[in-house]
Amino acid sequence: MTILIKDIRIIDADQDFLGGVFIEDGKISRVFAGKFSMMHSFPPGQGADTIIDGKNKILMPGLFDPHVHFRDPGFTYKEDFETGSQAAISAGVTTVFDMPNTNPPVFSRENLEQKRQIVASKAHCNYGLFFGAGPNNLEEIKAAENVPGTKLYLNTTTGNLKMDDEKAWREIFKLGRKVVLHAEGDTFFRAVEIWQEENFPCELHLAHASLKSEIDLIRELKRNPKSSSFAKASSFVETTEDKSDDRHKKISVEVCPHHLFMTHKEREKYGAICCMKPELATQKDVDAMWAGVEDGTIDFFATDHAPHTLAEKKESDQPGKSPIYGIPGVETFLPLLFTEFVKRGYDLSKLAAMTSKIPRKIYHVQDLKGEIRAGFDADLVIIDPNFRGKISADNFFSKSKWTPFAGREILMKVEKTFINGKVVFDNGQIVGQEGREIFFVSLS
Ligand code: NCD
Ligand code: ZN
Ligand code: ZN
Repeated sequence: MTILIKDIRIIDADQDFLGGVFIEDGKISRVFAGKFSMMHSFPPGQGADTIIDGKNKILMPGLFDPHVHFRDPGFTYKEDFETGSQAAISAGVTTVFDMPNTNPPVFSRENLEQKRQIVASKAHCNYGLFFGAGPNNLEEIKAAENVPGTKLYLNTTTGNLKMDDEKAWREIFKLGRKVVLHAEGDTFFRAVEIWQEENFPCELHLAHASLKSEIDLIRELKRNPKSSSFAKASSFVETTEDKSDDRHKKISVEVCPHHLFMTHKEREKYGAICCMKPELATQKDVDAMWAGVEDGTIDFFATDHAPHTLAEKKESDQPGKSPIYGIPGVETFLPLLFTEFVKRGYDLSKLAAMTSKIPRKIYHVQDLKGEIRAGFDADLVIIDPNFRGKISADNFFSKSKWTPFAGREILMKVEKTFINGKVVFDNGQIVGQEGREIFFVSLS
């Protein structure tokens, strides 16, 4: 089965041109520039079974969303892996990394295996499953196989996974596995300080950055790790094979659309549906996020898709009730970012980089995904950039049919999504089921 997508604007991290792609056996088999001419381009006997005309459309790599909560198992009344992944592909997201604050939380290899069993038949997209740092589970973290990283919660949020004990942080840093932090301001500064002090070998990733101060510190660490105001003089012990020089490559950060498009003013105006962790910040912080996107301090985008029922959100805002943190995001991810990139006149290759090539690299994904090149998996999205409309939650595939972004103008629509060379979403309909667990290079 060969598919040809022709006469389309092809955009990935490194290229933006008019051309076409052939897809064979789930992979991109050929990419060519220019308009396709049937007479000249098919070698005898090698036609395409399906030809898709991409006139006035854009072809991009399917997006990675490296931070979602699909709530499976345990909270499937909020979302499950089927609805979450259908929501993903309807919005051009072809690979997600799911967080461990499920019930049971992913604290052991047994929990991880159970989760693998549960999600395998439900998944409509590719996925990786995070491991959680929990009470006394160091041995389990050490032995866990094929996970994007260890999620360490340093603040209160949905689930009860907060770790206060700095000794435990050190033990986890020492393992050399990638650590993804839910940290907010002070806890992030403290974690970085500890990470620096002892030159711990692990890569550190800050999830959902929301504050200017966080971006400022990361910018400084990336530029000049040795002279960071947080680095003590003894932090970087010189050895013959001085590894400290690549330390700046070991820190990374993601930002979510809600921290790019909203401030505490929306929280005040819209109430519980704008309640999330970290909470919405100030305009100064939002400006700092965009500056971090522009100068490359921020590595990639993620949604932190965190569905809850509208009823429980509304109830949580009543006097005497505890807040419920989180908002759905996977279906508004590409529309919001694409539209803003267009409005700001940013390079769409940068959007592709920050949603595919860069997260793939930072998470050490083995599978060849996220670029439009021969040999790469055909995880692709066709976008109509001439569509004009507004965000509406009515047609969400997520169980959470609400969003604080409802009514925002959008300048694009996802027309088709391909996973492993198969069309799985086509003009509003789920038309196929593909996707599997992806592979990560082991760091320790
Ligand atoms: C997330 C959730 O609901 O699981 N909530 C949130 O507000 N972001 C948890 C998290 O990412 O902190
Ligand atoms: Zn979090
Ligand atoms: Zn989250």
